[in-house]
Amino acid sequence: MRYGQTVGFVRAITDHSVNSYICDFVIAEECRGEKLGTWMLEVLMAHPDLARTNQLLITENAQAFYEPHGFLQHPFTCMKRPFRA
Ligand SMILES: CC(C)(COP(=O)(O)OP(=O)(O)OC[C@H]1O[C@@H](n2cnc3c(N)ncnc32)[C@H](O)[C@@H]1OP(=O)(O)O)[C@@H](O)C(=O)NCCC(=O)NCCS
Repeated sequence: MRYGQTVGFVRAITDHSVNSYICDFVIAEECRGEKLGTWMLEVLMAHPDLARTNQLLITENAQAFYEPHGFLQHPFTCMKRPFRA
């Protein structure tokens, strides 16, 4: 929150022991480049529910944001079953 506005959002799903999945990581456009994303990622990675798990995420083009924090390319393929109404 800054001046009463939400400037960042992230969600994580965790089994508390083996794997956690980080998703919906976003910083408001007007606040990007101020290291808010770095701070939010560091807080999330250190959270006790995630800290001792493998932390997984999917990104199309933000690899360079995550790599300095220890995220590596996963050797497996990501699969998706699209929702069809
Ligand atoms: C990716 C995002 C969360 C980064 O937040 P931010 O607060 O702007 O990032 P920071 O200011 O902490 O940047 C830290 C470093 O990551 C780099 N970086 C930021 N966004 C990046 C991106 N999309 N791709 C590659 N590198 C990125 C910065 O250049 C900076 O590098 P530096 O340390 O060498 O100066 C933000 O740009 C965003 O919300 N993007 C749109 C949504 C998105 O792509 N989310 C991630 C999907 S998995």
